[in-house]
Amino acid sequence: MNNPFKTIAISLIPNFTFSDVVRSKLLIFQPWNYQNSDSQNTLKKNLATYLNQKHVELFDSGRTALYFLLQALNIKTGDEVIIQSFTCSVVPASIIWTGAVPIYADIDKTYNLDPEKLSKLITPKTKAVIIQHTFGTPANIDKIVSVCKSKKIILIEDCAHGFGNSYKGQKLGTFGQASFYSFGRDKVISGVWGGAVSINDSQIFENLRKLTSKLPRHTLSWTLKQLIYPPLMFVITKTYSFFKLGKVLHFCFRRLHLLSDAITPQEKQGIKPKTFYQGLPSPLCLLVINQLKKIDAFIQHRQRLAHFYSEKLNTKFDPSSSYLRYSLEIDNPQKIRSKSALKNIFLGDWYTTVIAPKDINLSHFMYQTGSCPQAEAMTQKIINLPTNPNLSLADAQKVVNIIKQWK
Ligand SMILES: Cc1ncc(COP(=O)(O)O)c(C=O)c1O
Repeated sequence: MNNPFKTIAISLIPNFTFSDVVRSKLLIFQPWNYQNSDSQNTLKKNLATYLNQKHVELFDSGRTALYFLLQALNIKTGDEVIIQSFTCSVVPASIIWTGAVPIYADIDKTYNLDPEKLSKLITPKTKAVIIQHTFGTPANIDKIVSVCKSKKIILIEDCAHGFGNSYKGQKLGTFGQASFYSFGRDKVISGVWGGAVSINDSQIFENLRKLTSKLPRHTLSWTLKQLIYPPLMFVITKTYSFFKLGKVLHFCFRRLHLLSDAITPQEKQGIKPKTFYQGLPSPLCLLVINQLKKIDAFIQHRQRLAHFYSEKLNTKFDPSSSYLRYSLEIDNPQKIRSKSALKNIFLGDWYTTVIAPKDINLSHFMYQTGSCPQAEAMTQKIINLPTNPNLSLADAQKVVNIIKQWK
């Protein structure tokens, strides 16, 4: 039945179905399992099998995974790493934390690193290139692999958006020397927090293990805080439009520090965390294991909604994308985001600045304004529509109606 009070939110906890919320709630009451390594080993094995890669290491986030991967690849002070603009600040931040310098490449029409721009940015200091597969659309892999091979530059795939998708029948994450993934709250599959590196080279994997094996483990309270996030968000989203109860609850839970932030105020300034932690706590691994079972259904659903949007709005559909979000370019994206929020429909803002989130200082991330004109222009036009696993076609129709009304 069509629920007129349903909140449609592209963010918060978009991938969690009722069974994930229940699982999370049950795990809260099993603290004796928090340090159990069985589920970590199962998740590593399941990911390695899924990706057909020899080695997988787990982390608490994509940013931690990238930070240690760069070190394992011997990337150090003064080296240059080419990344695309139109990205999340934690990507350049992880590079800067190693002492290396992020060099920004402009984007193409798929919001991915433009291969035409790549060659011009390569210098003797270039050690690696990171490609992003933005929103789940594969980057121009053939061209980029060929440039990297000819210049003997390491290729890393950032699969935070593209995990699970394939390019010419081969899984994203398997084209370069190594890849990293995020299981953050609004990624392809989620454990509230989580990240991984996949790699075939045993020597680099050994370097990675050495770097991380002595790190401290996450505290019980940190793990607990992540586990209460899904049930609290569930209550918030279910009651959001009921006399704004959910909105009030959201405010209160935040004030009480019960909801974990996706990015800390220090990280927003590019400041390196004082401590990094080892692996991913077991209960969060169990959440990711459960989500991984549903990944094919998630991707099919996202593509179905993207196709629906493209038909109704007469906009493009790219069958090669796994559509973590469906993006449109319009003249007044901010107006539509505000108008739709009044109807409890929260649309996406990836990316309204060349480096997200919007309240950061770009110079902290070594970005020079004007250096990536395509990406800068896109920040003024883009809006993302939700393709969440728990959105129905009737929900998507409401999103379409709002866009048509205010476009
Ligand atoms: C493109 C991209 N790469 C990497 C990351 C980092 O993931 P995490 O939040 O797990 O550190 C993000 C996070 O938003 C992202 O959007």
